[in-house]
Amino acid sequence: MKKVIDRKFCIAPMMGYTTPYARSLYRILSKKAFLFTEMIATKTLIHSKNTQSIIASKLQNPIALQVGGSEYDDLKKCSKLAFELNYDEINLNVGCPSKVVQKGSFGACLMQDKILVKNCLEAMQINKNIEVSIKCRIGLGRKFNYDYFEEFIDEILKSGIKIIYVHARNAILNGISPKGNRSIPPLNYEFIKKIKSKYPHITFILNGGIGSIEKALTLSKYHDGVMLGRLIQNNPFCLKNVDNLFYNEPSQYIISENTIKEYFNFIRPKVGKDSVYRLLSPLLNIFFGVPDGKQFKIDVHSNMKNQNFDILEKILLNFVKEKKLFIN
Ligand SMILES: Cc1cc2nc3c(=O)[nH]c(=O)nc-3n(C[C@H](O)[C@H](O)[C@H](O)COP(=O)(O)O)c2cc1C
Repeated sequence: MKKVIDRKFCIAPMMGYTTPYARSLYRILSKKAFLFTEMIATKTLIHSKNTQSIIASKLQNPIALQVGGSEYDDLKKCSKLAFELNYDEINLNVGCPSKVVQKGSFGACLMQDKILVKNCLEAMQINKNIEVSIKCRIGLGRKFNYDYFEEFIDEILKSGIKIIYVHARNAILNGISPKGNRSIPPLNYEFIKKIKSKYPHITFILNGGIGSIEKALTLSKYHDGVMLGRLIQNNPFCLKNVDNLFYNEPSQYIISENTIKEYFNFIRPKVGKDSVYRLLSPLLNIFFGVPDGKQFKIDVHSNMKNQNFDILEKILLNFVKEKKLFIN
C-alpha cells in the first residue's frame, strides 16, 4: 500500500543541488518536508554504475525520485528500481527546457505530446506501492493559453495519477536558457487554482517564484501544497521552521553543534568517493546573512582545498557556537 504523505511543503528537484548530501541536511532540519532527487535520465539510471551518488535515499523518506525519459520500458524499469530503493514516489520531469534534454526527447518538450505523456505515466504505474506523479509547466511558448494547459491535464489524468506538481510558468523551448526559463516567462498561479476547481480530488502542488517561507505558508492555505526550489538552494537553513509552521509540530528545529555533527557523520563515509564541493556545499550557506560570517567562509574555502574534514568540522562547529543567536 502507498503511504499517506502530506505534501504540503516540497523541496523542488534541482540538478547539481538536491544531492544526497543536501537532502540529508534538509532531513536534519525538517523531518516532514517532501524531498526530491535531482532529475536523472532513465538510461543513466538503468545503465550507469555510478548512480548511487545521485539516488541514495537511506533515511530520507518521504522522497520522490525524479526521472527524465519517454520510453515506456525504461520508465517501467526505473519505477521498479525506485520501488526497490524504498522511494515513496517516482516523478516524471515534463518541465526541463534544456536543449540536451530536448534532444533526448524528454522534459518540457513532452508537453507537445500529451498522449505520449499519458502513456508514460501509465507505464510507470508498476504496482500499487509506489506513487507516480508528474512535474510540468503551465504551457509552452510566450503566450498564456489556459485551454492548452487544461487539455494537457485532462489527457494525462486518464493515466490514473493523482499528484501533479506545476511550475506555474510556460517553458520557452527556443532562444532562452534553462536559467532564463525560471524567471523570464511570467508566473500565473491562477491556472493552478482554476484546474484545481475542475479536479478537486487531484493534488496540485504549486511551484515557482515563492521567495519566502511566509509567502509559502500563505499560499499553502489556498493550494494543496507548495514546492520551493531556489529559496532552499540559497538558504537551506530556513527549513528549520517548516515542521512547526506547515505540519503543526510543537517546536521549531534549533540549529546547534549537533546539526553540524550529524551532517559530518553522514558525509564522512563518502569522503574520497565524491567531490569535496558536492559534500560540503549544502552546509556552506549557513553563513547566509550572518554578521562577520565572511572570515569563517574564507577559512572553510581554504581548508576545502586540502580536504581536511576534521578542521572543516571544527570551523563550522565554532561558527555555530559563536553565531547561534543569529542563525536561529
Ligand atoms: C539549479 C537548478 C536545477 C534545477 N533542476 C531541476 C530538475 O532536475 N528537475 C526539475 O523538475 N526542475 C529543476 N529545476 C527547477 C526547479 O525544480 C523549480 O521548478 C524552479 O526552480 C522554480 O521554483 P523556485 O522559483 O522555487 O526556484 C531546477 C532549478 C534550479 C535552480
